Amino acid sequence: SQRKPFVAGNWKMNGSDELVEAFSSKLASNQAVDIVICPPAVYLSKFSQAAFAIGAQNVSEFASGAHTGEVSLSMIAEAGCKYVILGHSERREAYYESNEVVARKVKAAIAAGLTPILCIGEPLEVRESGQVFDFVKAQLDAVAHECGAHYVKNSVIAYEPIWAIGTGKTASPEQAQEVHAFIRKELAALDVSAAASVRILYGGSVNAANAKELFAKIDIDGGLIGGASLKVEDFTTICQAAS
Ligand code: G3H
Repeated sequence: SQRKPFVAGNWKMNGSDELVEAFSSKLASNQAVDIVICPPAVYLSKFSQAAFAIGAQNVSEFASGAHTGEVSLSMIAEAGCKYVILGHSERREAYYESNEVVARKVKAAIAAGLTPILCIGEPLEVRESGQVFDFVKAQLDAVAHECGAHYVKNSVIAYEPIWAIGTGKTASPEQAQEVHAFIRKELAALDVSAAASVRILYGGSVNAANAKELFAKIDIDGGLIGGASLKVEDFTTICQAAS
């Protein structure tokens, strides 16, 4: 396709100096794929010599000040980040991030020169009631409302059905492709050419064995990998599957 594949590893709240060292020394760059590792914030600057790019898992929408426990965009940029995961379902659910909060973070990240990896996706009850497109559209519309059409050319999108995250129950390639095509169509209503070039990743129980058939789908441009991003061999296999 016209889009360069993109594979990001989201370590979530996992990792150690040892894991940073293992990835720094063993995960090779791949000219055919954009590779990003998103470790917990305290490890970001320890990847300064890495052959791949670095992203944060979250960031404050504010620039500085009395926000105990938060980390700012300028801080993660100084630590070497080019990307920031925003709106992960774990943050939406466990830390009450609304569509509007996520949209403000996307706006702030783009203004700071970082590329958001914007996560969207439905819970099981939404899929079972046949409302997936409406649910995903509302998540996208909130970002468009806050940011305008220009966010499309400055973002990476990750579709993660919540029922597939960490469950070992991946969406079928056909289920994922159907939603990816819908997302691209929605984005085309904002900016046709940016929608054709935006990378849309699939996330949810991607592993070394199932990555290739997911990435073979026309609108699936790579993956956002959780559990399987903690093993350098598995993650390398997934990156190769995208190339
Ligand atoms: O950000 C990554 C996703 O939540 C997927 O996690 O690969 O462990 O299912 P998982």
